[in-house]
Amino acid sequence: MTLRKIALLGQPVLLRPAAAVADPTVPEIVSLLADMRETLADARGLGLAAPQVYAGLRVILAHVPDDEGDVDRTAEPLVLVNPRLTLLGEPTSMAFEGCLSIPGLRGIVPRHAELVLEAMDVHGRPIEREAKGLFARILQHEVDHLDGILYTHRLVDPRHLAFDGEVAALSAYLADETSKAEAGRNDD
Ligand code: NI
Repeated sequence: MTLRKIALLGQPVLLRPAAAVADPTVPEIVSLLADMRETLADARGLGLAAPQVYAGLRVILAHVPDDEGDVDRTAEPLVLVNPRLTLLGEPTSMAFEGCLSIPGLRGIVPRHAELVLEAMDVHGRPIEREAKGLFARILQHEVDHLDGILYTHRLVDPRHLAFDGEVAALSAYLADETSKAEAGRNDD
């Protein structure tokens, strides 16, 4: 296994749609997956998409949060080949996200709270399962990478971006702004 270099914002590989994998059992894919596992564990991320390690293939790793939304980053991540998401409802769930390709920053991104995932596992067997909450968010973020989309492309307000250490300050400012706007409406 080898630690692979993570592509950073601005690298064209992050903007190109990735190609489907015909057979995940071939040596090239087996070694890519082993390297991605090691790279994700080293970076302590929630998920990793192949384009983030300069491989334009439709493969992602995603940690599966427990029922409380906690993630054990030392556990084995789920490996998903050619993942497809059927998004349910509207993208009304707003939360901060980060990305290993955009270190140091976090942004507020709208996502669907529920979806159905279909993919192949490492052996080429079909996987189908439902996902909600943080798990659904991680899957949408990682599958976006396969389509050349970064979370920053989905900000609904360009002000919704902060350095890690300023997330609490930005959240407090935005909450205050929202409550003032609501108070203003109530005065009408
Ligand atoms: Ni990312």
